[in-house]
Amino acid sequence: EKGGHEYFMLKEIEEQPEALANTLRGHFDNGRIILDEQRLSDQDLRDVDKVFVIACGSAYHSGLVAKYAIEHWTRLPVEVELASEFRYRDPVLDRDTLVVAVSQSGETADTLEAVRHAREQKARVLAVCNTNGAQIPRESDAVLYTHAGPEIGVASTKAFLAQIAANYLVGLALAQARGTKYPDEVAREFAELEAMPAAVQKVLSTVDQVKALGRQIADSKAVLFLGRHVGFPVALEGALKLKELAYMHAEGFAAGELKHGPIALIEEGLPVVVVMPSPKGRAVLHAKLVSNISEIQARGARTIVIAEEGDETVRPFADELVEIPAVPTLLQPLVSTVPLQVLAAEIARSRGYDVDKPRNLAKSVTVE
Ligand code: M6R
Repeated sequence: EKGGHEYFMLKEIEEQPEALANTLRGHFDNGRIILDEQRLSDQDLRDVDKVFVIACGSAYHSGLVAKYAIEHWTRLPVEVELASEFRYRDPVLDRDTLVVAVSQSGETADTLEAVRHAREQKARVLAVCNTNGAQIPRESDAVLYTHAGPEIGVASTKAFLAQIAANYLVGLALAQARGTKYPDEVAREFAELEAMPAAVQKVLSTVDQVKALGRQIADSKAVLFLGRHVGFPVALEGALKLKELAYMHAEGFAAGELKHGPIALIEEGLPVVVVMPSPKGRAVLHAKLVSNISEIQARGARTIVIAEEGDETVRPFADELVEIPAVPTLLQPLVSTVPLQVLAAEIARSRGYDVDKPRNLAKSVTVE
């Protein structure tokens, strides 16, 4: 059942190209982005003046990734919030607010209560969900299903990648309705998304390298993760995977925050995973990260760098270099997350832990 793997999580990591392809399939037809259970009119989408993404855990990170794309494509303000915070706040919402509730299970208690809280204030709710007919989609105005297939491992992998893709479809649907993107631009963005399953397939060729690396650093006290722009939520996701699977202290930081505190944590031999932006994308982001890496390396950190293939400038600063395929900047999380998933799983396995069933955790958190 585990497809010859020691644990389901690795099988699910390898199913990611398919999960992405299935999530995108059928959502672009006749030159238009199409959502699934759509009980919102085009006019409703045009009227949206603010977006909230509410979710927990990895689903929350998928929202943080999508914020960059949705704001860029739609020019709408996007706030991403933990459902457990949102539901107890007094958020400013009205009927022109679109609340995107992201949940693999569709049953997460905090996310469900956040949906109810939003609906009481007349906000429109769109669920991004991996489970047909679950409670969250049932209580929402529209649904976009991620077709990642059932996820057995408690740690989210293929559902996470599918959530990013689905959130991007929501962004494109809004851009299309609002006219902030021309139809040919929407078509081009969709085509770029459609190229991602092949890119993810390619990044899977790093699995053995990353596993070997995981075994080497399995005894570390802690691991830090750094990223900028869309690489920042990827760093958060990498740290969450490591905490939940390997029971290790792990933290993700925005690289720009280093000097505001975290750099004090750097000591001899501390593994620091850095998610590098593409050198061909925003050059300034790339240059800033190269300088961050040189600073932490100078203080003794063991630098593990996830960088685009052919990125030569970063090589001198990388104690270990994991190469990922070149993809558009906004889509990079779909490839850069994969090595971080493998790293966490393999560290957990070498520490003797059950990768699919980490202690104290449940697959679906239906109580607070
Ligand atoms: O089913 P949901 O997507 O609502 O679950 C949200 C979180 O509980 C979930 O992503 C959790 O953080 C995972 N164990 C992370 O790997």
